[in-house]
Amino acid sequence: MVRTEPVRASAVPKAQESATFHIRRIAPGDETGIDVTTQLHMDLLGFGPMAQFGPGVIRETIYDTAINEKLLEVAIAEVDGRPAGFIAYTIDPHRFHASLIGSHRLKVIGSMAKALLSRPARLRHIPRALKVVLSRDDLGEDATPVGTEVVCFGVYPEYLTAEFIRKTKIRVGVKLLQHAASYFRQHGFDTTRMIVDADNTRALLFYQSLGGEMTPCTFGGVPSYIVLMNLGDLF
Ligand SMILES: CC(C)(COP(=O)(O)OP(=O)(O)OC[C@H]1O[C@@H](n2cnc3c(N)ncnc32)[C@H](O)[C@@H]1OP(=O)(O)O)[C@@H](O)C(=O)NCCC(=O)NCCS
Repeated sequence: MVRTEPVRASAVPKAQESATFHIRRIAPGDETGIDVTTQLHMDLLGFGPMAQFGPGVIRETIYDTAINEKLLEVAIAEVDGRPAGFIAYTIDPHRFHASLIGSHRLKVIGSMAKALLSRPARLRHIPRALKVVLSRDDLGEDATPVGTEVVCFGVYPEYLTAEFIRKTKIRVGVKLLQHAASYFRQHGFDTTRMIVDADNTRALLFYQSLGGEMTPCTFGGVPSYIVLMNLGDLF
């Protein structure tokens, strides 16, 4: 999969001297929030295996179910009222996945069928998607018994520039991770993990700069790292 820098169609104003910053949790039933999350996922994680099937699959098979059934927590960072990034995280990495796939087979199959009928060329992405599903099952609960996971995470490039950070003093990615870390701590955890493609150098450097420890693995058939983080290092 060729990784490209995430892009967004709409123009974004230049960094201001000050900016309002807010993290909004997406609550069950917040349909607009689920739409915004889907858009953020497609824009920022469009290189991922499930995004290849289009926004309908991302919305219906992941966020709609996961948010409404509280299988995942999702929070959106807003700068001056605009979505700047998002994070999806869980204190039950094994159950969230088993429930999404296992208890909603018909929904998953229906959504995938729609995606494939509307663009049959998407069929070529099936093997990688299946490998990801099976890899996650293989990880089980014992691979990294941390109990929590950051499942999806990203920030629009315009909020990652040194200029934006110098002017606003806001590191959106760090704020989002701190938000998830606070939730994990409230539930009694002190570590988390994320699974990152080995070619995602920027994300790996980001996590490493925050104290993340990398263990190489193969995930979804591609070289990856399991990143372990002490939540205390984030504050
Ligand atoms: C993961 C991700 C959020 C990391 O972003 P990042 O750019 O490393 O984030 P940082 O906050 O560390 O750095 C942002 C900028 O601020 C600079 N910076 C970092 N710390 C700073 C500080 N204390 N003061 C001033 N500037 C700082 C960095 O050098 C960088 O500027 P540059 O782009 O000119 O080098 C981002 O790469 C991303 O959203 N990627 C797409 C989605 C993705 O791959 N997600 C991970 C899936 S697991």
